[in-house]
Amino acid sequence: MKAKVSKAVIPVAGLGTRFLPVTKAVAKEMIPIIDKPMIHYIVEEAVASGIEDIVLVTSRHKNEIQRYFDYNAELEDRLVKSGKAELASELKTIAESCNIICVYQKDPAGLGHAVGCARPVIGDQPFAVLLGDDLIDAPVPCTRQLINVFEHRGTSVVGVMEVPATEVSKYGIVGGVPIDDRTLKIDRMVEKPKPEDAPSRFAIPGRYVVDPAIFRHISETRPGKGGEIQFTDALAALARNEGLLSYRFDGDRYDTGDRLGYLEATLVFGLRRPELRDGLVRLMRAHLPS
Ligand code: G1P
Repeated sequence: MKAKVSKAVIPVAGLGTRFLPVTKAVAKEMIPIIDKPMIHYIVEEAVASGIEDIVLVTSRHKNEIQRYFDYNAELEDRLVKSGKAELASELKTIAESCNIICVYQKDPAGLGHAVGCARPVIGDQPFAVLLGDDLIDAPVPCTRQLINVFEHRGTSVVGVMEVPATEVSKYGIVGGVPIDDRTLKIDRMVEKPKPEDAPSRFAIPGRYVVDPAIFRHISETRPGKGGEIQFTDALAALARNEGLLSYRFDGDRYDTGDRLGYLEATLVFGLRRPELRDGLVRLMRAHLPS
């Protein structure tokens, strides 16, 4: 029986170049979808999946993320005094929903390196990794689906979705032998392949549950694509040694690291909010070219 998965790593040290110029002064993870920063949705997914401790692998330019998950006593006091106690307690809940632990990635040496920076906090336990550019809306949180597979099969697992051949070069792509209609035993992983080199069209949109052996593989991984320590390369070593599954999760994924994907997520989440829905539909109708 494998240990319980109660910790997650969320790398947030990236420069956010796809969202310049705003990311010149604002962490990309703090860009809001309506009124909550993107990172809040990711943390919510982790907490709803049973995660208790979240390790943010961050950089010194991104202190506002830590502040967001802390108390703001002055603001809470003011809200209570002005009769907005409910809002004050909502803000408090953000700070209390889990333990946030920050470690610094001093050198932006790649995603594998970023995950490796969490090693002193995670220790010898399995853990989840969630990437902040991917928002996954699912009946059962995507990370929970992966934890269920991990607990059931006792093997590390990455979430995958099918993408068109034209998009494989944006993702880590897996290849392997089917175990059931959602699960593969991975025997190949390629980071951002050309369509002709891709082992399949199953792409990893940034959700993983891994055995702590991954840390050893990260430390042995040499710089790969783009001269960076790629997480995908360390996962390929994990697949060869301890075994790795892919699981085609149930849910809709929004690429909020991309401008159009970000707008789509804003639209979908806006339409879901009862107080915004009618107004948003009216505005869309008014602005659509006739
Ligand atoms: C990273 C990973 C890649 C994964 C992707 C998901 O790439 O290296 O394997 O498919 O995230 O968003 P990035 O988008 O950070 O370049």
